[in-house]
Amino acid sequence: MSTPHIAAERGAFAPTVLLPGDPLRAEHIAATLLDDAVEVTRVRGMAGFTGRWRGQPVSVMGTGMGIPSASIYATELVREYGATRLVRIGTCGAVAADLQLGDIVLAQGACTDSGVNRTRFRGMDFAAIAGFDLLSTVATAARMRGERFAVGNLFSADLFYHPDPALLDTLDAMGVLGIDMEAAGLYGIAAQHRVQALAVCAVSDQLREGGHWSPAQRQYGVDAMVRLVLDALAG
Ligand code: HPA
Repeated sequence: MSTPHIAAERGAFAPTVLLPGDPLRAEHIAATLLDDAVEVTRVRGMAGFTGRWRGQPVSVMGTGMGIPSASIYATELVREYGATRLVRIGTCGAVAADLQLGDIVLAQGACTDSGVNRTRFRGMDFAAIAGFDLLSTVATAARMRGERFAVGNLFSADLFYHPDPALLDTLDAMGVLGIDMEAAGLYGIAAQHRVQALAVCAVSDQLREGGHWSPAQRQYGVDAMVRLVLDALAG
C-alpha cells in the first residue's frame, strides 16, 4: 500500500514513531541505535525505518521542517499506518535565559503563529498539549537520570527568520521556554485523531544569550536525548 507521501506495506510501522525533522537523522538513529532496523519508505527522500529497542518495535521517520511538512507525515502515519505514539525528536532555540545549550525541553504545550489548529477548531484558540502519559514517562526518566531538562511551552513558529524583533520578549514574558517549528502541529493532529504526541527538543541555539551548537554537538546531544526517550518508552 502507499499514501501520497509514504510507500510502505501495511503494518510496516510500529505504534511508536520517533519523528526527527531531518531524514538523515532518522537514518542515523536507525543505523546506530535500533536493532534490526529496516527501511520501510523513502518517498521524496523522507526516509522511515522500523526496528527494535530493547526488544520492542519502534519506528523512526523524518518529517522535514515546519508544521505543513511534519503534518503530512504525522497524519498519514496515524491514519494509514496505525501510529499511536508520535514523539518528535528535535532541537529548539531557547527563549528562557536559564536554558543552556544541550538542555532538554519537554513541550507540555505548544503555542504557535500557525493557523492549523484554528483551522481545526472553528477559529478558536486550541490548547495544544502533549500526551500526558508520554510526557510523564519521559519526564520521570529524565529526572531519574539527572538530566538537565525543563517542562513547559514551546512556540512553534511558521517562520525560522521571523520579522518581528519583539517576538522573543513577548514569548519570554509569557514564560515560553523555546522555539521550534513543529510541536503545535503535531499536538493538533494527535488531538484530532486521539493519539499521544510529545515533542522532545534539545536546545541547539540560545536565542537570548547567544550561542549555537556545533554540528558535532548537534549529533552527540541528540543521540543522548534519543537514547533517553527510547529507554523511557521501553519502560
Ligand atoms: N527557531 C526555530 N526553530 C528552531 C530554532 C530556532 O531558533 N533552533 C532550533 N530549531
